[in-house]
Amino acid sequence: MTAAEVLAAFAPAAGLAPACPAWDGRLSGKLLMAPMAGVSDAAYRLMARAGGAALAYSEMVSCAGLHYGEKSWELVDPDPAEPEIAVQLFGSKPELFRESAERVAARLGERLALLDINMACPVPKVTKKGEGSALLEDPALAAQIVAACREGAPGVAVTVKIRRGRYAGQEVAPEFARAMEAAGACAVAVHGRFATQMYHGEADWGVIDRVAGAVDVPVIASGDILSHEAALRALSETGASAVMVARGTYGNPWVFSGHEATVAEKIAAFECHVRLLEATGAHLKRARSLAGWYFKGMPDAARWRNAAMSCVTAEEFLAVAAEVRAALGE
Ligand SMILES: Cc1cc2nc3c(=O)[nH]c(=O)nc-3n(C[C@H](O)[C@H](O)[C@H](O)COP(=O)(O)O)c2cc1C
Repeated sequence: MTAAEVLAAFAPAAGLAPACPAWDGRLSGKLLMAPMAGVSDAAYRLMARAGGAALAYSEMVSCAGLHYGEKSWELVDPDPAEPEIAVQLFGSKPELFRESAERVAARLGERLALLDINMACPVPKVTKKGEGSALLEDPALAAQIVAACREGAPGVAVTVKIRRGRYAGQEVAPEFARAMEAAGACAVAVHGRFATQMYHGEADWGVIDRVAGAVDVPVIASGDILSHEAALRALSETGASAVMVARGTYGNPWVFSGHEATVAEKIAAFECHVRLLEATGAHLKRARSLAGWYFKGMPDAARWRNAAMSCVTAEEFLAVAAEVRAALGE
């Protein structure tokens, strides 16, 4: 089965749309699925969009990886059932960004909704090479990178994703965002934590307003938007034009629509997701963490999570789902 056929056949039983509606190119008021390394593959993005996400991002893709090998291209290619995707690039060399932007734009054509540049990743393996959030300390280089992407992919929307700053207490986001806007960024996503905080502490939504006050381009809020209500609150209480949901999508593609999923729909969503992993050629091992997420809060959740930990094939995961359904009388 293709992913489109899986969605058409199995998404409605999960309270999800049978196909992904197209992105209209406008950020205002939108709920987006955030980039997540190791998570936001095509199956994950399809679930999010069937759940109502206006757009979904690839995980961050290395410009050097795209230059030197074939493997990274797997992260860039949308499934045919995805009308379009946002692709996020990371790196530190403007020339490699220019080349990546050009090649990604040529490969995806109209299906490339926007190109985002990661200036937020706090992982030392990334920052020690001057990539991710390390760029927050070098606005001149970051500006060259934005300009290089614009040059490589004329006509494509280029955006940046940043944090409050690199080091706790040293907020650079507002003036940094202004420099990115001047370099050609057409939107700025802001995760309201310092890079050194990783994912600890509370995200500060105040910085969203400070960035929105510093730039004319739309601001996308990220950080602790873990429910539909939180998304609506961030849209109404901050200067953000749009919001991004990352961890709040775990086992919850309905976070975008606000639909209250029943237990039966959660089981059906897990099944649909497993079938999408198969249809998109992804590694089925990904369904192990998905089982923990979708079955969370159900009676005997730990038992089902453990059962999924030894599954390898789609049939095995679907058999666990059938057991859950039978045990819960759904
Ligand atoms: C597992 C995981 C992987 C992530 N990978 C990326 C990434 O590749 N690129 C990026 O810009 N942010 C990445 N992030 C950060 C999220 O996009 C988001 O900004 C952050 O998690 C805060 O939002 P949340 O509170 O909704 O999770 C990742 C977050 C998580 C939890």
